[in-house]
Amino acid sequence: MSTRPHHARSRDGLVAVLAGATGLVGGECLKQLVADHRYARVVVVTRRDAGPAARHAKVEQVVSEFDRLDAVRDRLRDGDHAYCALGTTIRKAGSQARFRAVDHDYVLRFAEAARAGGATHLSVVSALGASRASPFPYSRVKGETEEDLRRMGWPSLAILRPSVIAGARAESRPLERLGEHVLRWAPAKWRPVAATDIAAAMIALAHESEGGVTVVESREIARCRV
Ligand SMILES: NC(=O)c1ccc[n+]([C@@H]2O[C@H](COP(=O)([O-])OP(=O)(O)OC[C@H]3O[C@@H](n4cnc5c(N)ncnc54)[C@H](OP(=O)(O)O)[C@@H]3O)[C@@H](O)[C@H]2O)c1
Repeated sequence: MSTRPHHARSRDGLVAVLAGATGLVGGECLKQLVADHRYARVVVVTRRDAGPAARHAKVEQVVSEFDRLDAVRDRLRDGDHAYCALGTTIRKAGSQARFRAVDHDYVLRFAEAARAGGATHLSVVSALGASRASPFPYSRVKGETEEDLRRMGWPSLAILRPSVIAGARAESRPLERLGEHVLRWAPAKWRPVAATDIAAAMIALAHESEGGVTVVESREIARCRV
């Protein structure tokens, strides 16, 4: 285990706290965290049962709506590293306000609970082009989330900004699939990124970062693997 200040806790192993474990990137994160011997425990926070992936001796499942996280804060105590792959789309959420509630408010709530519980590193999935000044509502919300997470003063914060995410998704998202095919030939900054690479980068950054804020653009994500 690294001796850097944001990994200072000593026990049988590290504790990860993960939001988004039922999703594409979060599911990959869960798999990799379970297989990672540096972690003794993985606490997953989901609004519904996370299924077979959560039936592992190392995994503790906390089922809660994200606007009621206060009621389960105690169960998020003692995390070392927080991982957030929470998110929706404006179409799926049904409105820009509902989208913002998930991609901004719920992310912030999860981060606050994990930080209050003692976590010193957060790896979070944002998106290519995230900026508070963006003309696109999706990118603007992602940018606001990034800024508000920065303001929380994490000892170590890694923000990953993928382009379209590639991986085996149960749900059909034809536009994303089309984008994935078209963007395979695009310049590196737009090329699709595999969910497995994003998850690996999130974990690598928790261990390798020197602290402070690290922003990883889409083209650099695959290079963060250890
Ligand atoms: N997909 C892309 O191409 C793409 C591109 C760039 C950035 N991103 C960002 O990357 C991150 C991960 O993407 P992904 O494709 O892995 O996402 P995903 O497969 O859609 O998974 C999203 C996760 O967020 C949870 N979630 C959504 N709405 C929720 C709500 N109202 N309450 C509680 N949990 C909720 C889902 O839980 P349930 O299973 O319960 O719904 C799921 O665990 C997201 O922040 C996304 O914006 C995605």
